[in-house]
This record gives sequence, C-alpha cells and structure tokens, in this order.
Amino acid sequence: MKNDDEIRNIYECGLVRDLVLKNPQYRETLEKLGIDTCCGGGQPLKEAMCRANMTFEALEKELQKVMPATTAVPGADWQRASNELLIEYILQMHHAALREELPRLNMFFKRAIAAHSDHAEELKKMHADFSTLHAALIPHLDLEEKEIFPVMRKNEIPKDAARRIRQLEDEHTIAGNLLRKLNTATTGYRIPEYACPTVKMLFQGMAKLDAGLHEHIHLENNILFPRALR
Ligand SMILES: [Fe+2]
Ligand SMILES: [Fe+2]
Repeated sequence: MKNDDEIRNIYECGLVRDLVLKNPQYRETLEKLGIDTCCGGGQPLKEAMCRANMTFEALEKELQKVMPATTAVPGADWQRASNELLIEYILQMHHAALREELPRLNMFFKRAIAAHSDHAEELKKMHADFSTLHAALIPHLDLEEKEIFPVMRKNEIPKDAARRIRQLEDEHTIAGNLLRKLNTATTGYRIPEYACPTVKMLFQGMAKLDAGLHEHIHLENNILFPRALR
C-alpha cells in the first residue's frame, strides 16, 4: 500500500499511536499541532484532528515535511527494538534525567519565589502543580524500575500485568494533565519579561521536562506496555 493511502487509512480508522508507530518522527509533528501522542496515543486520529481543528489535507501537508521512516535515524525506531534496549534507553534518558532534574527545578522554584515577590503568586501556583507532579513521579519510577522493567527485560509478562499497566497508564494521565496545566499557564513556558537567570533556567528546564516526559510516556504507553499485554 502506498504511504499516502496508509496515512489516509490510519486517519479514517486508526489511532494516534498508529501514525506515530508508522514513523517515530511523526510524533514531533503531531505534538506541534497540539495532538497529545503519549497519554492520548489511544484516541482515534480523526477525532484528535477534529479537536485540533485540522483537516486531513493539512495533516498530510505537515507529514510530507518529515523524512520517510526508512531514512530516519537508526535506533529511533523503537517499535523494532528489544525490550532490553528500549528499557535501557528509558532508564538512561528519562528516569535518570528525571531523578536529577526534578530536585534541580524544585530548587529553582524556591529561589525564584524568594527573589520575585511581585510574581510570587503565579510562581507559587506553578510550584504547587510541579510539586504534585514531582511527588507522583518518584513512586511511579520506583514501581516501573522494581516491578515491571526487570520482568520485561527477561521478556516475561509481569504478574497481574493488565492491572499494573492500567495503574501506570493512569499515573501517566495524571502527569500529562499536570504538564498541560503548567504548559498552558505559562503559554508554552515562554520566559517572562521579569526573568533573572534563575527564572530563565527554570522555564527552560520546565520546557525540557515537558518534552522529555512526552517522549517517555509515549515509549511506555504506546510501545513497551502493550508488549506486556499481548
Ligand atoms: Fe518510566
Ligand atoms: Fe511511566
């Protein structure tokens, strides 16, 4: 089937994740168009496009700017990677980064609130959502690292897989909702006029955290976890 026909088929009767799995680079395009590809990977593509006020023709035009999957960077095609390799990537690139970055951002929030009394209220609101996210993510990472990843590395199905994976996916949804709230409140982490170097690093760090978590959740929800449910 021709690439255009496949995309049309996915649009008509497939899910957001079907398009992302077809070419991992489509994920970035969809995210730029405002389509949530991680927690929202399971929604019908057509419905997601309607909500984003996008026609099929507009989507097709955007996707044409992306390299074909065959010329994509090797290793970026996680759908074909082993559990072992995918888990190692998630641990190194995402879990380790979060464990380092969350306390660093927390420190920037505290410094920013202390230094900018005129903007303390908006910073405190952001910090409250960030703290909820921080507190939720640590036990989530622990659960994946202790109970899910070791079993999946051996290509075994985790005990009580469906229930555990549903729990992890629900936790991803909670994290995704908090990020969306933070992203909207800051208009995509736009650095405010009053920003000192700390506030600048805080907003840049939050933008990086947001993008990283989207890829992280996409890899787990759309590629790794479905393997435990087969
Ligand atoms: Fe994870
Ligand atoms: Fe996760």
